[in-house]
Amino acid sequence: MEVLLANPKVFVLGSVPKPWLADISQIASVEEEPVELSLSADEMIGKLKGIDVLMPTLVPQISARVIESCPQLKMVANIAVGYDKVDIVAATKAGILVTNTPGVLDETCADFAFGLMLASARRIAEADRFIRSGQFEGWKSQLLLGQDIYKKTIGIIGFGRIGQAVARRACGFDMRILYLAHRKGMTQTDLPAEPVDLDTLLRQSDFISLHCPLTKETHHLIGESQFAKLKPNCILINTARGAVIDEKALVKALQAKQLAGCGLDVFENEPAITAELLQMENVVLAPHVASATMETRAKMTQLASDSVIQALAGTLPKTAVNPEVWPTFLKRLSS
Ligand code: GLV
Repeated sequence: MEVLLANPKVFVLGSVPKPWLADISQIASVEEEPVELSLSADEMIGKLKGIDVLMPTLVPQISARVIESCPQLKMVANIAVGYDKVDIVAATKAGILVTNTPGVLDETCADFAFGLMLASARRIAEADRFIRSGQFEGWKSQLLLGQDIYKKTIGIIGFGRIGQAVARRACGFDMRILYLAHRKGMTQTDLPAEPVDLDTLLRQSDFISLHCPLTKETHHLIGESQFAKLKPNCILINTARGAVIDEKALVKALQAKQLAGCGLDVFENEPAITAELLQMENVVLAPHVASATMETRAKMTQLASDSVIQALAGTLPKTAVNPEVWPTFLKRLSS
C-alpha cells in the first residue's frame, strides 16, 4: 500500500512479538522499546523525538506536555481499547489522530470478568491458597462455603460491547440482568436485560460488574455513598479502570462488610495497590490481564497496525477516537 508520508517512523512502546508487527514494518521503519512500566513525561518526550506514529501498549501517560513537546508526532495508535491515558483534547488541538482497538477483545474480557466472578463467589483463589499451604485434611461440609451465581441478579455498569458480552454469559447462568448504560443510545438491546438507574442497580444486585470507560463522569462512580447501598452479599467485579472505584472507600466498605468481596483486574494507582486489599481473603486480584490471551493480543496489535497503515494511506480508520482531527491530520501528512 502506498503511504502519503515519506519514510514514516513508528515507535512501538511495550513488548510485542515481532511477527505481529510484520505488516507495519513493510510501510514504516519501526523502532521498538519493550518498556511497559510508567515512563516520566521527560522520558516519553526523549523517546518520541523524530517519531511520526506512537503505538503504545496500555501504560504510558500521553499528557498535554508530552504532546506539545513532540511537534512531529502525528498519530497515537493505542494497542488497547481504553484511551484514558491520552489527553484527547490536547492531541486533537495538535492535529494528532488517536485510535484504539474496539471490538476484538470483548469476549476475552467478558470471559475474564466472569472468571473473577466465579473465583470470588466460589472462593477459588482462596481454595488454591488453602491447598498450597498444606491445610487440606479432607472433605468437610462447612469448608470454604461460597455463594451461588446461577439465578442471582447481576448489575452491569457500562453496557457497550464488553458489558453486553458479560450479559450473554449471565444468560447461561439464568441470571436476572440489570444494566446501566454509560452512554446514550446504548439502551437498545435484544438481551433479556432491564435498564435501571444506579441506585436500583446498587440496591438489587448480587453481583456488580463494571464495563464503562474511565471519564470525568465515571471517576469514583462507586464510592462511599454507593457502597452504603449494596446488599451485604454483593460481589463487585472491576475489569474496566481502577479509578471508577474509590479504592480507599472500597477498603472501608469491605472492612465494614458492606459487600461480601470483590474481584479486581485494575487498580486506581496501578501497579500500586492499596495495601489492605492484599491482606483480604475475600478479594481476588489480577494484574490487568482481562484481554491477555495470545489470540486477542495478536488481534489488538493487528488492528492498531491496520489503523496506522490506513491512516498513512489517506483513509480515516474506523477506530479513530477523534475523527474530527482528520482534515488537519491529512494536511500534516502532506506538508
Ligand atoms: C485494556 O485495559 C484495554 O483498554 O484494552
